[in-house]
Amino acid sequence: MKGILLHGGHGTRLRPLTHTGPKQLLPIANKPMSQYCINSLKEAGAKEIGIIIGGIGANKVREYYGDGEKFGVKISYIEQDEPRGIAHAINLCKDFVGNEKFTVFLGDNIIQKSIEDFARKFENSDAEASILLCEVDDPSRFGIADIKNEQIIKIMEKPKNPPTNLAVTGIYFLTPVIFEMIKNLKPSWRNELEITDALQMLLENKYKITYDTITDYWKDTGTPEDIINANGAILEKMKPYFDGTKEEGVKIQGNVMIGKNSKIQKDVEIQGPVIIGENCVIESKTKIGPNISIGNNTTISEIDIAESIIMSDCIVKGKLKMRNSIISKNSTIIFTEQHNQNEKIFLLGEGTKILF
Ligand code: G1P
Repeated sequence: MKGILLHGGHGTRLRPLTHTGPKQLLPIANKPMSQYCINSLKEAGAKEIGIIIGGIGANKVREYYGDGEKFGVKISYIEQDEPRGIAHAINLCKDFVGNEKFTVFLGDNIIQKSIEDFARKFENSDAEASILLCEVDDPSRFGIADIKNEQIIKIMEKPKNPPTNLAVTGIYFLTPVIFEMIKNLKPSWRNELEITDALQMLLENKYKITYDTITDYWKDTGTPEDIINANGAILEKMKPYFDGTKEEGVKIQGNVMIGKNSKIQKDVEIQGPVIIGENCVIESKTKIGPNISIGNNTTISEIDIAESIIMSDCIVKGKLKMRNSIISKNSTIIFTEQHNQNEKIFLLGEGTKILF
């Protein structure tokens, strides 16, 4: 079974984080979020993966994944000139897919568990498509499936009055029959060829579509809050390690991963889940966690920080309570004065400098 990873788009809802690259390369637990999708596709049995690129920083995707050897798969790249929808992107893979069944993964979807069993089930079934559904609180943000007697009766995109709260996640098991449907699709109100419309067309043409339900974690990381939430979910499941050094009085609790050459100075408090990359310095009196990722070569001093991501090569210093923040790489933030103890939120693009 081949794999397709969608890695295009302009990531407008995540600006300024996406001014310098695609959202799917934003780090979760210090790895690009799309790397978790590659892993999932591998678990589904894909040895060959086609990555759809286009939009902001497409070259960065090629640079990072290369021919896939480092990630244990063979990767080809397929370019999409404009973000014209998931079904449009899938259609570009017709030659790549050939006559096989295949799995499509949206590069901004994060799950905790392996999709291996779902993939195996689909491979051994006679269905033309299988989708994964997940209960959500805000169904009008997603593709939704209506179910009766354990059968899918309708699939629709972002309905105003959703009949269920079962979101169609961005993980699709398909056969080449989908290309026949996409051929006849018309652009939706958002001027995209919708995969949900292609699936609905399969139903209308009496093709068999099965479904499974994801009962544990699934997130479409559309907003900074979603990314911070997904970061916590991934961190929770990681195995703790400590490859750095620590001075006296350091308190570490919960699931904590600390990389090579990172120094934790005295009286630092770390409340997991937390990951700190390599060559970091956590200076005295800093309070970190829970739910924090800190990239490589970053120095943090005195700050009290929770529910946030600080990428690599940053300096963050000052007496300040930081929450729900994402700070992109190469940024320097230095507060020389004592600030009030209200929680502060930062959402900063690459190379930001704040000194006050
Ligand atoms: C897309 C699909 C939608 C699906 C969602 C899952 O939405 O169109 O059906 O539920 O991905 O992540 P979009 O992210 O384009 O709004």
